[in-house]
Amino acid sequence: MIKLRDVTKVFPAVAGKGAQPTGAQVVALDGINLSVGEGRIHGIVGRSGAGKSTLIRCLTGLEKPTSGEVWIGDTQISALDGAKLRAARRSIGFVFQHANLLDSRTAAENIAHPLDIIGVKGEEKRRRVAELVELVGLSGRENNYPAQLSGGQIQRVGIARALAASPDVLLCDEPTSALDPSTTRQILSLIRSLRDKLGITVLLITHEMSVVREICDEVTLLAEGKILQSGDLLQVATDTRGPLYAELIPLPPPPTGLNAVMVNCDYGDSPTISTSEDLVRLAAEYEAHATIVAGTIETLGGRQVGRVQLALRNYNNEPISREGFNRFLRQLEESGVVAKEAAFL
Ligand SMILES: Nc1ncnc2c1ncn2[C@@H]1O[C@H](COP(=O)(O)OP(=O)(O)OP(=O)(O)O)[C@@H](O)[C@H]1O
Ligand SMILES: [Mg+2]
Repeated sequence: MIKLRDVTKVFPAVAGKGAQPTGAQVVALDGINLSVGEGRIHGIVGRSGAGKSTLIRCLTGLEKPTSGEVWIGDTQISALDGAKLRAARRSIGFVFQHANLLDSRTAAENIAHPLDIIGVKGEEKRRRVAELVELVGLSGRENNYPAQLSGGQIQRVGIARALAASPDVLLCDEPTSALDPSTTRQILSLIRSLRDKLGITVLLITHEMSVVREICDEVTLLAEGKILQSGDLLQVATDTRGPLYAELIPLPPPPTGLNAVMVNCDYGDSPTISTSEDLVRLAAEYEAHATIVAGTIETLGGRQVGRVQLALRNYNNEPISREGFNRFLRQLEESGVVAKEAAFL
């Protein structure tokens, strides 16, 4: 379990080189309350400078919050220093964008590194490393040096190393940003399978919404050190008025020059419209022939969430009348679909 209680982190503003300190401050985190349950995968997103890395650094104990509490399990990380903090950090695994392996050591030796530090030796160490190699899918590559591994394999070594001391929590800062899309999917599926097998709690920073869609159970949007939105993935992806909606379900630009009435429909929240076909069927009740001309349809947690743009024509292939259109719009709204007129000819 991860918990932040009223966490604020203030830095002195960094003046230009050689300049006098100005006394100005940067509020990197501003009253953050967040709780991530055991075995959940929680994504943190937000623009550059939003406070994502500062949040993770507070969780690792590398930074101390200016005020508030940071808990990992039963340990208040923000209250520890020195040897106690070092000991507590062993129950946290870290995965970064670059694994920074030791080049002169093999994959297995890199994975064993944290075990060396905590004094695990001999047969026990050998067994644990073999287990980890298998767990992250590196069997047959354990004796390769980093220079003989692909980017995805290097990240697997990094993940195995993070898991060596059997942490309860895995903190990942942009773990796939340096990888190509297919390797990214493999690493994300590895992280999910580790959660499933080990019940580990994962906090993952990313700037890619595709990563959030693919593995996160829940997501938090940070902006200027504050939480703008936080919740279960399906809940935020269906909150058509929330700030994450347009990012999770982006609408591609529609075609232009169509001789039709255009309407944008967000049907994430609707209790009755659950597929784009339902919209087409509803339009037919208003004597409108609806064609989906642009759309983003995502299946999240087994449910279809969509934004589509419909071109509406009557059965003579002409744009539908204003009156018919207005009636259809009212019906959409009653059905819980957020509809916006895009073009009326
Ligand atoms: N050590 C520091 N001293 C002064 N200001 C800092 C320090 N660390 C971070 N900041 C400031 O705090 C704010 C949040 O920074 P942070 O690195 O957490 O952002 P981020 O969301 O991780 O951004 P990015 O996506 O670019 O990595 C920024 O305004 C940054 O300049
Ligand atoms: Mg950062």
